[in-house]
Amino acid sequence: MKFFIDTADIEEIRMANRRGWVDGVTTNPSLVAKTGRDHVEVLKDICAEVNGPVNAEVMSLEAEKMVAEGKEFAKLHDNIIVKIPMTEDGLIAVRQLAAEGIRTNVTLVFNPIQALMVAKAGASYVSPFVGRLDDISSPGLEMVGQIQQIYSNYGLKTETLVASIRHPIHILDSALIGADIVTIPFKVMQNLAKHPLTDRGIEAFVRDYEASQKTQ
Ligand code: G3P
Repeated sequence: MKFFIDTADIEEIRMANRRGWVDGVTTNPSLVAKTGRDHVEVLKDICAEVNGPVNAEVMSLEAEKMVAEGKEFAKLHDNIIVKIPMTEDGLIAVRQLAAEGIRTNVTLVFNPIQALMVAKAGASYVSPFVGRLDDISSPGLEMVGQIQQIYSNYGLKTETLVASIRHPIHILDSALIGADIVTIPFKVMQNLAKHPLTDRGIEAFVRDYEASQKTQ
């Protein structure tokens, strides 16, 4: 399963990249706004840092404007993926961009039928939001399992990029389902390699080693 980092913060991306945790990046207007920097400059810096897909989300809501914005983003770097919201206009834009060889990721997907429509439009990725569904008492990972089932039934090539990840169990369940990609905030990534018994084991090794040095 590939790991994307869900941030526009270049320092977080650098730290995660150094640890081998970055197969790609997802950004959105809220994440870019948090940096306080120019959108295009942020995307250029990320593309220079990461050797993998970098998602850039359009701000327009009308198909033609989304296509125009998407084309501008795509000019920035070969690794740019144009992120498009899940609307009828969005699906039109996905079809037009796909016809021009520009890869897209349809975002804000909350049920498997939306994901079927995304694949039919020819998007490269679909982003089901699991955390936001969990927040309203609707199991997010069930949706991901159903998407995987539908895509497998019909040999659909769109990759499932699980988004709105809040904790390690979302990642565990995504891996058990066989999702292609998870996009993870840096804070959640930092918890993935940790276990209190690992820390306790290291403390015991250090203590025993130091005690043995004193007796020699
Ligand atoms: O990339 C968008 C998505 O991952 C948002 O997550 O936590 O705002 O629901 P969240």
